[in-house]
Amino acid sequence: MNAKTQNSFNLEISKPVGIVARNLIKVYDDPSSDSGIIALRGVELNVKPGSLVSIIGPSGAGKSTLLNVLGAMYPPTAGELYVGSIPVHSLRHWQIDYYHQKIVGFLWQLPERNLLPELSAEENVEYVMQIAGYPKDKRKERIKYLLTAVGVWERRTHKLGQLSGGEAQRVGLAVALANEPAILLADEPTGELDSETTMEVIGYLQDLNKDEDLTMVIVTHDGRFERMTHQSFHILDGMISGVRRSITGEAAKDWRSAEREELAFVDQFGNVRIPSELRKRHAIGSYVRFVSEDGRLYIEPAEVSTNE
Ligand SMILES: Nc1ncnc2c1ncn2[C@@H]1O[C@H](COP(=O)(O)OP(=O)(O)O)[C@@H](O)[C@H]1O
Ligand SMILES: [Mg+2]
Repeated sequence: MNAKTQNSFNLEISKPVGIVARNLIKVYDDPSSDSGIIALRGVELNVKPGSLVSIIGPSGAGKSTLLNVLGAMYPPTAGELYVGSIPVHSLRHWQIDYYHQKIVGFLWQLPERNLLPELSAEENVEYVMQIAGYPKDKRKERIKYLLTAVGVWERRTHKLGQLSGGEAQRVGLAVALANEPAILLADEPTGELDSETTMEVIGYLQDLNKDEDLTMVIVTHDGRFERMTHQSFHILDGMISGVRRSITGEAAKDWRSAEREELAFVDQFGNVRIPSELRKRHAIGSYVRFVSEDGRLYIEPAEVSTNE
């Protein structure tokens, strides 16, 4: 065993894995100014092992940056990120190759980023297995299982140009899961799809999340993912602005389902963010007062906002 394989061994994990992000900061260099562009400003996440999670926010909120950091496409400028026991923020370059091949699967918005156009659906899945050294004797069976699970087994010999948008994303999902990753990261996976096809793809994500012991993180601007995932984090200006989770513990089949509760995240320093809508409604300015009464904790404005 050389040093590399010995150290890869330290990256072994047992599924399902949780994800913990602490104070993640990402600053991009900006050649046109002295200061950089702050894309993430202290993101905190706590994702339960095996859960299906959405991170929802408008364009420019930092969603893709966060997903790329989760996927070790580049390191955060500061902060810590653990996938299971793996310290993703401090991986060395060869550990990152291992992480990409064995731990994480990606599903991107554009089909041409998920699939090689010159290969058929089944060849695309097998190609990923080859690169990652997936056991040869298990490949055929898993290819059939995955393409069947996403409803495109009949289309296995078709190439990207012969697949509809929805089919291409489903094959993309099979490709992302080819190597039995522990986490699936998806960046706007339904961004190119119509409404009905989007619901179909979410259904497949829900099913595979259950069947594969997978932890899934989907970033999207599409608010309908909120109720169809176990937990949703709302991101705005590079910060998590709110957390909602399913009361039943199930991801709803219908995006209109009402069984959600809204939570605020308490970070490691005790910071709690008050959503802007509540700040407005209660005219909260720079200070609040905590009132502890009858076993409950209340927050009341200590100084009325003069902003409006
Ligand atoms: N490679 C980059 N270089 C400089 N700035 C970037 C880069 N990628 C993203 N940004 C900036 O970081 C912020 C967050 O972008 P991004 O993570 O792509 O948001 P989202 O995916 O939510 O639209 C934006 O202000 C964007 O312009
Ligand atoms: Mg994006």
